[in-house]
Amino acid sequence: MKIPYFAPARSLEPIAAEVNARLLEVAHSGAYILGRNVAALEAQAAGYLGTPETVALNSGTDALHLALAALGIGPGDEVVTSPYTFAATVEAIEYVGATPVLVDIEAHTFNIDAGLIEAAITGSTRAILPVHMFGLPADMPAIMAIADEHGLRVVEDCAQSFGAAVGGRKVGAIGDCGAHSFYPTKTLGGIGDGGLVSVRDPDLARRMRMLRNHGIGDGGEHSYLGFNSRLDEIQAAVLIPKLARIDTSNDRRREIAARYNEALSATGAAVPGAPGGARHVYGYYTICIENRDEVRAKLGEAGIATAVYYAKPLHRHEHFSKTCRWTSLDVAEALGKRVISLPVFPEMTDEEVDYVASTTASLLA
Ligand SMILES: Cc1ncc(COP(=O)(O)O)c(C=O)c1O
Repeated sequence: MKIPYFAPARSLEPIAAEVNARLLEVAHSGAYILGRNVAALEAQAAGYLGTPETVALNSGTDALHLALAALGIGPGDEVVTSPYTFAATVEAIEYVGATPVLVDIEAHTFNIDAGLIEAAITGSTRAILPVHMFGLPADMPAIMAIADEHGLRVVEDCAQSFGAAVGGRKVGAIGDCGAHSFYPTKTLGGIGDGGLVSVRDPDLARRMRMLRNHGIGDGGEHSYLGFNSRLDEIQAAVLIPKLARIDTSNDRRREIAARYNEALSATGAAVPGAPGGARHVYGYYTICIENRDEVRAKLGEAGIATAVYYAKPLHRHEHFSKTCRWTSLDVAEALGKRVISLPVFPEMTDEEVDYVASTTASLLA
């Protein structure tokens, strides 16, 4: 059996007729940019996430960047975040001219260790940027309490976790802003790049709408230095039916993860869980094992594609080693040597899931 790591085209199969009709409708409408599909997606996402506003953008990276820009974070400011993330998290902080301050993660969640954040706060800190890694919410109650205490903004990086929740609230609806990615392999993925910011304050939303479209406000005035960061109608047309079934597709991810956990927990592998009753959506299924490279090679021979996120935390990369500030990031460094991610996508068949579970369990036994 050959199991791909991702298979994004399979996600269109259950909605193929609707997607085809919507794509044709956009193509023949002539209205390709900031039209009714983008407006409809924004309203649908706001309703789903439970935020008053959302602003659709052309990537998750831009969602982080424009959220920080709209909050007025800039040169001389510091933003506290995790070293154990995709580069975009830290790039966005640098795009606005601020300094990324990296705080170590918890070994059992891969998320920023909220207990270490206060020690990293200085007179220049303006925001905390927690990443909900692999689909699991960070410790938002603790992070929001620290932010309130120190008067800091919170931008949630939800790129890997659309649909995750904690304390009955969706990620992205807890901090000031949530940055979401519609990259094709994400829990809510388009057929190209896309992203969205969920935001509580309508003024911030208005500012982001201007920033995404060259800073143009009412009356055609260029009030800010803006960007071209608009989501295409084509992407919105595909994302609307996908968002309508996001809970079903995330439930299937959770079911697959439960099957893997059941098979692997007896092997000594550190399997993922959801502390504090959080709703983990398993954008990725990541375990920690000792002989990672050997197991990975054997899974490859058995036809099972795997991935490693993140072999090296960001501060060990040439660029970020020069631009970030940190003290000790021992947990992030140690995990990088042990992590391996198994295929988890909602359209996997039961047979595929069982094959991955039993093959991995037998290699780890
Ligand atoms: C944690 C995290 N943040 C941000 C991003 C950036 O999203 P995009 O690829 O849509 O720009 C990603 C995408 O991989 C991500 O995993």
